Amino acid sequence: MNEETGVSDGLEAIETASRDELQALQLRRLRQSLQHAYDRVAHYRAKFDEAGVHPRDVVDLADLAKLPFTTKADLRANYPYGMFAVPMRDIVRVHASSGTTGRPTVVGYNRADIALWSAMVARSMRAAGVRADDIVLNSYGYGLFTGGLGAHYGGEALGAAVIPMSGGQTEKQVQLIRDFKPTVLMCTPSYALTIADELQRQGIASDATSLRVGIFGAEPWSNEMRAEIETRLGIDALDIYGLSEVIGPGVASECIETKDGPHVWEDHFYPEIIDPDTGEPLPDGSLGELVFTSLTKEAMPIVRYRTRDLTRLLPGTARSMRRMGKIVGRSDDMLIIRGVNVFPTQVEEVLLKNPNLCAQYQMQVSRDGNLDRLDVYVEVKPDLSSRLSPAQRESIAHDAAHSIKSLIGVSAAVHVVETESIERTLVGKARRVIDRRPRG
Ligand code: DLL
Repeated sequence: MNEETGVSDGLEAIETASRDELQALQLRRLRQSLQHAYDRVAHYRAKFDEAGVHPRDVVDLADLAKLPFTTKADLRANYPYGMFAVPMRDIVRVHASSGTTGRPTVVGYNRADIALWSAMVARSMRAAGVRADDIVLNSYGYGLFTGGLGAHYGGEALGAAVIPMSGGQTEKQVQLIRDFKPTVLMCTPSYALTIADELQRQGIASDATSLRVGIFGAEPWSNEMRAEIETRLGIDALDIYGLSEVIGPGVASECIETKDGPHVWEDHFYPEIIDPDTGEPLPDGSLGELVFTSLTKEAMPIVRYRTRDLTRLLPGTARSMRRMGKIVGRSDDMLIIRGVNVFPTQVEEVLLKNPNLCAQYQMQVSRDGNLDRLDVYVEVKPDLSSRLSPAQRESIAHDAAHSIKSLIGVSAAVHVVETESIERTLVGKARRVIDRRPRG
């Protein structure tokens, strides 16, 4: 045990505890957490009362199904701080992720939550084989996004040396790899390939750097992509999963000895799989929507949060905690482009701020090399179609691309096109998104 960080080199006892032991702990924590949410968050009290359930009624883990779900819409309705269960005096950190209406989803942490989150990322990193003598190049974005600071605090809790590089500036990333000799890389899987490209461009043998392990997440990736990253960078590539509403990265993570899907750290985050249409809980092994209930979070307990991520729960292997399969898709229209969450409605909002443009638009997502590419096609207002010069269109497109980048955080190529050039479907439902990225 490292006296300063409280993190031991070996596994925590709970990671290999029996299922019975784990479930007893989960039930005890669940009851406390539900009571905390009910007592401190008006939203939960109202929702539970409306459903006619009280935290006392939960005497078994299966009773969780009696409780109402929480959705992104609930978080938006309580924007920004309405879901917090502690006074602002106790909040030490706020993060946010994009929402459907341009209003971000806000999450808050007290000191204990930051310690828990750091411990869960440290546990994830340890599962990937990272130790205190490692040097971590952290290329997840720092800022409102939970990736950068989440990985940073986790690496420090583990006692590793963290280089807070953040995303972007690929040439500089490569310089740091050459000079600082990191052994661990943390970033989105697509960015790992961009780094590999840049290493090659600079004539450096990409599979012979100091890097040994990569911990990648924040966007879906396939085992084929894992194989490509492992070969090109000469590392072991591990999958880390998480979402801001639940805590950030470190809700689940893969073990290096098995690489068979992220183990859910279910002593703190209780997973369920439900039928996305009916909301009925499904047995382990079935494909459905992943739902999480936090068991120990204090500042913002979350009850039955619908992640919209489609996957299945599988039995534990390297740990007794259950694993999740690869995310096979999402049950809503949210896109993840280069790790940034993007809703078509957000793009719509930006486009419609320009009086020359109309709501006929389509987003086409493709893969350009290893990176996602977003093309946005939008029609000019019908009455302007013949009146705008090519230069005017170009300038409108340029402005829209700039607003998309600054308001949503994703780079897009905007094409301002003629009336009727965007496909109309027979039933009149717009086809907002064409996603041509290869599926994992
Ligand atoms: O992406 C947190 C994170 C940061 C996870 C760094 C891992 C590494 P959000 O921005 O709130 O949080 O986005 C959460 O991203 O619901 C999934 O759809 C997707 N996602 C996250 N990790 C994975 C993964 C962070 N390993 C949303 N595989 C989630 C597939 C992932 N999808």
